[in-house]
Amino acid sequence: MTTNPYRWITAALLSLSVHASEPGEQIAERECAECHGPGGRSDQSDMPSIGGFSEFAIMDLLDSYRLGFRQARTVRLQDGSETDMAKIVDSLSEDDIEAVALYYADQEWVPHEQPFDGDLARRGARIHSVKCGKCHPRGGSVPEADHALLAGQWRDYLAGEFLDFDSGARRMTDRMKERYDTLSPADKSALLEYYVSAGKY
Ligand code: HEC
Ligand code: HEC
Repeated sequence: MTTNPYRWITAALLSLSVHASEPGEQIAERECAECHGPGGRSDQSDMPSIGGFSEFAIMDLLDSYRLGFRQARTVRLQDGSETDMAKIVDSLSEDDIEAVALYYADQEWVPHEQPFDGDLARRGARIHSVKCGKCHPRGGSVPEADHALLAGQWRDYLAGEFLDFDSGARRMTDRMKERYDTLSPADKSALLEYYVSAGKY
């Protein structure tokens, strides 16, 4: 009996491409939803919402873990095991990352309603428009600006990122760092209230 080896190769390639084209929604539900919530809307205040970020922003942010620009926090899962964003990114193929980024970019950003200090938020709005608004337009609410959205993100998560920028655990692009380094602690508190207010000022 003779078998045509090309048939095996074709079959193997087909099964690879079937795997590679697993829908982003499926990957997101399995690999991301326990922390980032359904559709990327997180219900834990220390986990960022990501549904509605642009595809480019998601891919860029995932890259920052892979490149070590950003130290990932250790998270304990319900089953008691521990993981972090760097390990998660390493476990995904390029195709998975693209599919999952497309899926989250298709979701709608829904700001989290949170209490905030109005006076501080107003002060934060002024600082933002002078120092930060060029790259994070309209209070960080425009997905097409291709950055993480800030307007209506969870306060606890954002406060943690400010601390990581301060300590250097998360690196900034040079042009953000130039401006960030001019902020006083009071400026940072005001900016935080402004982002939490989700563009009410
Ligand atoms: C075990 C919990 C956990 C899982 C699972 C998880 N993440 Fe995360 N993710 C986090 C935490 C915590 C942060 C923020 C803190 C940090 O940098 O470690 C984060 C940050 C991010 C960010 C950056 C958000 C921003 O505003 O800068 C993106 C994008 C992201 N995750 C995408 C994903 C994707 C896509 C998946 C699934 C493939 C995933 N995450 C799975 C916990 C998780
Ligand atoms: C030159 C452009 C630029 C400027 C100016 C800038 N940023 Fe950024 N910002 C970025 C980039 C790039 C990132 C990281 C990657 C991304 O968001 O996609 C970022 C990320 C952030 C994040 C983390 C969001 C998250 O969830 O990951 C915060 C908070 C932030 N910036 C605040 C500020 C503040 C406050 C200022 C003004 C003092 C500022 N930025 C000015 C470009 C800029």
